[in-house]
Amino acid sequence: MKVNIFKTAEEIGVAVARIFVDEVKNNPNCVLGLATGASPIPTYDNIKKLHKEENVSFKGVKTYNLDEYCDLPKSDKNSYYTFMHEQLFNGLDILEENVHFLDGNAVDSEAECKRYDNEINEAGGIDIQLLGIGNNAHIGFNEPAESFTDGSFKVKLTDSTIEANKIYFDENPMPHYALTMGVKQIMAAKKIILIATGPKKAEAIKNMVKGEVTPLVPASVLQEHDDVLIFLDEAAASLL
Ligand code: PGA
Repeated sequence: MKVNIFKTAEEIGVAVARIFVDEVKNNPNCVLGLATGASPIPTYDNIKKLHKEENVSFKGVKTYNLDEYCDLPKSDKNSYYTFMHEQLFNGLDILEENVHFLDGNAVDSEAECKRYDNEINEAGGIDIQLLGIGNNAHIGFNEPAESFTDGSFKVKLTDSTIEANKIYFDENPMPHYALTMGVKQIMAAKKIILIATGPKKAEAIKNMVKGEVTPLVPASVLQEHDDVLIFLDEAAASLL
């Protein structure tokens, strides 16, 4: 993994947006794996900016999001469907039929996960996967566990994740379950970019980069991928 340290989250956003937009220029039909949370917001702002300034069309691009809450209406302000449209898709010319999510309201979540995995495979796999990291080193919603997960699955969120994300929920209570891509599936992406900022991520980053590869530190598995770029601010990198 290659670690890049920047002064501010905005500088990270500029650098990561450049990689995504260059990918779209070189491969207008690329498949992007996208993430939610605070970490990717400056990247999404800069992708929208470059899309306009450099006239780069996203009409041929397909996207697959990492995860989605269970039992939260798509229209809820905290659904990842809504987040992605507000933070990125509404500012691009991407086609609605090309943006893909796990359906957290599916009655049969196992069938839904299989459908999603098959769709990603049929699209040819993910060219670049964007990731954040949890304070507990989760990637997607792959929480610390006994073994690394495989394809998409339904997960019970840990107290650490609920604590970190419940600040966004003021109307409806935060769901305790989500559907998420699995670790093996994330690792199948051709290129992976992980962004982390702030002091709360420092311990997870240290364990990810310098610790042993273990499912108790889900992000540590990235040590075994041969094309991973890590973008950190100084606070997140402070224990390296
Ligand atoms: P954050 O979340 O970007 O809001 O810090 C990242 C994550 O939990 O994966």
